[in-house]
Amino acid sequence: MKQIEVRNLDFSYDENTHAVKNVSFSIEKGSYTTIIGHNGSGKSTIAKLMIGLLEKNSGEVLIDGMPLTLESLQAIRSKVGIVFQNPDNQFIGSTVRDDIAFGLENHCVDPDKMDEIIMEFAKKVNMVEFLDSEPTKLSGGQKQRVAIAGVLAMAPEIMIFDESTSMLDPQGKNEINEVIRELHAKTKMTLVSITHDIEEVTKSDYVIVMNNGQIVMSGKPEEIMLREKELMKSNLDLPFSLKMMKELEKNKIRLSKSVTIEGLVDELCQLNSTK
Ligand SMILES: Nc1ncnc2c1ncn2[C@@H]1O[C@H](COP(=O)(O)OP(=O)(O)O)[C@@H](O)[C@H]1O
Ligand SMILES: [Mg+2]
Repeated sequence: MKQIEVRNLDFSYDENTHAVKNVSFSIEKGSYTTIIGHNGSGKSTIAKLMIGLLEKNSGEVLIDGMPLTLESLQAIRSKVGIVFQNPDNQFIGSTVRDDIAFGLENHCVDPDKMDEIIMEFAKKVNMVEFLDSEPTKLSGGQKQRVAIAGVLAMAPEIMIFDESTSMLDPQGKNEINEVIRELHAKTKMTLVSITHDIEEVTKSDYVIVMNNGQIVMSGKPEEIMLREKELMKSNLDLPFSLKMMKELEKNKIRLSKSVTIEGLVDELCQLNSTK
């Protein structure tokens, strides 16, 4: 079942910035989709259009078949949670506990149930021991985990991560990617991960590649990664492992039969087919 449908979406910030050009795609319920594109390709603009933070010039966004309009905005926002890039811009509470509570208070959750819900989601992101800490004193990865808990506590059906790991160090990136992966494995929630990092596409079911406000290709990760010329044209890099294999092959170094680009892609296909 299609949960998100974007049809002929078009948006300009001003006469010089046509940020999203006639974009159409659909996302299956329970799937894990990556939207990848270089900086300025229009990814965040699409995310904002999908939750009504920006108003489209033309086209349609449908969530569960419901068109996004002023009237449906509240209903749609309660279905879609979003975590942004900069963890420092997402804090309101003076402790981690207050911070997770903030969204719940806005959703008029019964105060008696609040503690229980906060605990449940702090556990999900491994932050129970930090519930009384000040958010500003946490590492980047920990801050993003709190932000994720706050959004998850509102029980969205769809989660959008807009470059949520891009400001983190490698350890923070791994922490958040692990949370996202587990979330998907356990809840089968519909996930949309937005990134400019090709290394992040391999975990998803489906990839949408953007360049200059348009979709340039889409498909399974193993298909996308082989389309080297199109990736380069979109100013995207190849995954490190593929680049290394190419370098080795160029120098006539073959490590073993399976360690070739084709071997890697085969392995990736097998990995995906067992998911
Ligand atoms: N608030 C804004 N006002 C004017 N132009 C903007 C604004 N935000 C983004 N843009 C422009 O719109 C284009 C798409 O930006 P964005 O959606 O943020 O791309 P991405 O998220 O892929 O980096 C870029 O050219 C960017 O400079
Ligand atoms: Mg962006």
